[in-house]
Amino acid sequence: MENRTGPPPPPKTPEPRLRAVDLKKSFGSKVVLDGISFSVAPGESLVIVGPSGTGKSVLLKHLIGLVRPDSGKVFVAGEDLWALSHVERTRVRKKFGMSFQEGALFDSMSVFDNIAFPLRRSGRPASSFRAGCAAASASRARSRMSRRSCSSTSRTRG
Ligand SMILES: Nc1ncnc2c1ncn2[C@@H]1O[C@H](COP(=O)(O)OP(=O)(O)OP(=O)(O)O)[C@@H](O)[C@H]1O
Ligand SMILES: [Mg+2]
Repeated sequence: MENRTGPPPPPKTPEPRLRAVDLKKSFGSKVVLDGISFSVAPGESLVIVGPSGTGKSVLLKHLIGLVRPDSGKVFVAGEDLWALSHVERTRVRKKFGMSFQEGALFDSMSVFDNIAFPLRRSGRPASSFRAGCAAASASRARSRMSRRSCSSTSRTRG
């Protein structure tokens, strides 16, 4: 048996769920991200606030691997997004959910089909998510809406 001496090792800090390291992104001459670094620990919540046009959406698109930074890195649970293959990056992207700004939906689809969209894309059989999607249409009124297209829904509401 090993004879240990000296002070006990420091407690292990958990791997951040998300880490941005010196992210930089410009569109033409417009610098949008200028060296953004932060990390999000397991269980921690992060809110990004700022005036319109200052780069919140651009940052989010970097964090989920939709936009590649000019320089810097994004780590998701320790995995360097842009060191992964395309297939591996797609696997990591599936960990994220994202809703459109202003709560927009695909207006050519019903509410039900909007909710089911990512689940169908995941390749799961419809039987495995049908109940969950129906539950998301919480009230009977919403359930009636779910059979109609979102464009007719918004016309009705507007
Ligand atoms: N694909 C792109 N090509 C060129 N410029 C872009 C692109 N995407 C974003 N931008 C520019 O980057 C800047 C930041 O845009 P972004 O959409 O991130 O702002 P935002 O903080 O999310 O604003 P809002 O609060 O209005 O949603 C804006 O000047 C925008 O025009
Ligand atoms: Mg935005």
